[in-house]
Formats: sequence, structure tokens, C-alpha cells
Amino acid sequence: MPFLQLISPQIPTVRKDFLPPSVFTLPQTAQLEALFTIIRDKETTRGDFLFYSDRIIRLLVEEGLNHLPVVKKSVVTPTGSTYDGVGFEGKICGVSILRAGEAMEAGLREVCRSVRIGKILIQRDEETTLPKLFYSKFPPDIAKRYVLLLDPMLATGGSAMKAVEVLREHGVPEERIIFINLIASPEGLKTFCSKHPQVKVITGWIDQGLNEKAYIIPGLGDFGERRYCE
Ligand code: URA
Repeated sequence: MPFLQLISPQIPTVRKDFLPPSVFTLPQTAQLEALFTIIRDKETTRGDFLFYSDRIIRLLVEEGLNHLPVVKKSVVTPTGSTYDGVGFEGKICGVSILRAGEAMEAGLREVCRSVRIGKILIQRDEETTLPKLFYSKFPPDIAKRYVLLLDPMLATGGSAMKAVEVLREHGVPEERIIFINLIASPEGLKTFCSKHPQVKVITGWIDQGLNEKAYIIPGLGDFGERRYCE
């Protein structure tokens, strides 16, 4: 009798029918689903939440970088031969949507040494209920860079859309913005992508939807609370 019963993972197929062409999901492997299962579990400790969400963030950042352009580059190897490869083209920076997006900065820094990082704080305006810009700080030459926009949860898409609007006001064209998140709602993706079809969206998982409090379902709860407070 085996101790463990091995099961084939039930990997949901991403519903490509509604996916806008600007949306890219991480490969939906059993490994990724296991990482998400840990961080979704309400019993997971803060330490494990940090560790496993960082693993997913790292995968997302690597996938985001795959969407950056490269140019032909030849190098000479220690064997004296020429290798015709490619090199990175263009400068990048990260922009985190505070506060939860800050959690993704370390993952970006691990992969891109000395990367510049800007910040943006958007909150609901109590009078209008619309997302309002409270603070932003960007590298001075942001208009010349590719921007990796960081926010772990794409729920209604309100903050992300406001962030793109602010980046555009600072001269960043939409096609140079790559929005990276761990979990997205179908509603948020649809709204965001119809407003900003040129922005690429890299997401780890697309969930079922939103509840009446605009939390993603099944989701993982409040990302910022789980990362910083529990
Ligand atoms: N922000 C979160 O942290 N969680 C959600 O489910 C939605 C937005």
C-alpha cells in the first residue's frame, strides 16, 4: 500500500474565448497551481505566504521580461568562436501601485540589477468613489523606459487604469507598459483591456470573479494584509 495517493493535477484550462490578445498567463502547470494553493489557503502562515508569493512573483517578472524587445548581438566565447545571439534593448523601470505592489519590487530587483523603481498611490475618492491619485514618484526619464507596472491583484481594474493614465501623462506610451499581477478577475481584465488594449497584461491565474466587496473569488483575501500584517 503506498503512503500517498498520487493524483493528476486538475489544471483548469484558461478560458481563451474571452481573453483579449494582450493578456498572457503563466504556463498553468501543476507546480504553479501548488504554489497558488499554498498562498490561497487561509491557514498559511505569513512566512510561507511571503516565501511562496515571492516564488510566483519571480516567475511573473521573468515572463514580463520575455515581452521586452531584443536586438541582434554577437559575442566571442572563450573558445574563440563567434556566437550570434541577442542583447536587451531599451531601459526598463518598475512602478509599484502602493501598497500591495511594493511586495513585488524585491522580485524585480532580484532579476534586474539596480533597476529604477517608481511608486504610485491611488485610493478611492470618498466623494466621487472613483480612483484618485494621491502620490507618484517616477524616474525622471520614465518616458524613455519600458515600465513594468506592479500590482498583485487585478480586481475591478480601477487602480491599474488610473495608474496607466498617470503614466501616459508622464509620456509613457501604452505599448511600453507591461502590467504584472498574480491573480486577475475576468471582469477586471475585460474592463482594463478594453480601455488600454496596447498594455500587455501578465497574470499568474484568472479566477472566477468578484464578490460584492470587490474581492477576487476564490482569490486569496487581502494581499497587503496577508503579506504585511498577519
Ligand atoms: N485586493 C486584494 O488584496 N484582494 C482582492 O481580492 C482584491 C483586491
